[in-house]
Amino acid sequence: MKLPELRIGDLVAPIPIVQGGMAIRISTGTLAGSVAAAGGIGTIGASGLAFEELRSEIQKAREIAKSGIVAVNIMYAAREFLGLVQTAIREKIDLIVTGAGFSRDIFKIGQESKVPIMAIVSSARLARTAKSCGAVGVIVEGKEAGGHLGTDRSIWDILPEVRKAVGEDFPVIAAGGITDGKQIAQMLKLGANGVQIATRFVLTPECNAAPAYKEMYQKATKDDVVLISSPVGMPGRALKTPFVEKILNKTAPPPVGCDFCLKRCSLEYCIIQALINSQMGDLENGVVFSGENVWKIKDRRIRPAAEIVKELAKEAEEAM
Ligand SMILES: Cc1cc2nc3c(=O)[nH]c(=O)nc-3n(C[C@H](O)[C@H](O)[C@H](O)COP(=O)(O)O)c2cc1C
Repeated sequence: MKLPELRIGDLVAPIPIVQGGMAIRISTGTLAGSVAAAGGIGTIGASGLAFEELRSEIQKAREIAKSGIVAVNIMYAAREFLGLVQTAIREKIDLIVTGAGFSRDIFKIGQESKVPIMAIVSSARLARTAKSCGAVGVIVEGKEAGGHLGTDRSIWDILPEVRKAVGEDFPVIAAGGITDGKQIAQMLKLGANGVQIATRFVLTPECNAAPAYKEMYQKATKDDVVLISSPVGMPGRALKTPFVEKILNKTAPPPVGCDFCLKRCSLEYCIIQALINSQMGDLENGVVFSGENVWKIKDRRIRPAAEIVKELAKEAEEAM
């Protein structure tokens, strides 16, 4: 059976797969543009980027994607949240996704500038709030997701509750732990209009992480995936690097030269520097975020993003 297209407001993606935003500089314009060109929605992880850098990444994605749908993901917890939102709007981004919280104001800005805003939520209550504030849809993330987590509950349990809470006609995208097309088909049957996948797209040439980062994904076993406490005030899912071991042992060094880039930070260690380090290949001093099911990915070779989108869609169609 043919996969349904994904409709969010006036946007229509032929393939109902959203590549999840990955900060810092893990999903940039090249990956987002390639997924968008393949028929899905590509997302630039905008948190931690300078405004000029975000502008140039959006332009890069546009050149690759032409008419495909390009989104940015911006963490509400970042002090520069509003500036990044305004930069993305000026660059005529197709869609803005707010991660790690949202404010009511952001939806007003979206409505005024005619840029649709989606919120990442982890409960039916927050999904309802986002809808009433003016979100064009929600991305529901379960505990299986990578990065900062808003819940310890599975996406398989939360998704039906969210669908019931927001009604039939509101776009709902399911995220967390999806590694193959069969799971995509199951999510669609459970009421999702599409899925968001991030971890799977790290193993592509278009992903901007250093080779050592991708190698860690390729070798990861179930025991390497752990939960850490992030200074942002949320748990985070990551792979066990030497720095992550220090976080777990409470011996990670405090920030040096802090510029207070987060609205709220415990200052236990610098999560931003740790993410920058890992993206550049310094795993000794880095945090490598990853979804819970990285070790379940069947083919962990580095393959083009378009090939992965096509394969996932084909598997999903066969399973429907
Ligand atoms: C390396 C990495 C970085 C991430 N960074 C962000 C981020 O900056 N903002 C956000 O809202 N979600 C972030 N996420 C979550 C993803 O966008 C996505 O929703 C989630 O990981 C989906 O689960 P999966 O990775 O198992 O497919 C990140 C995930 C990973 C793996």
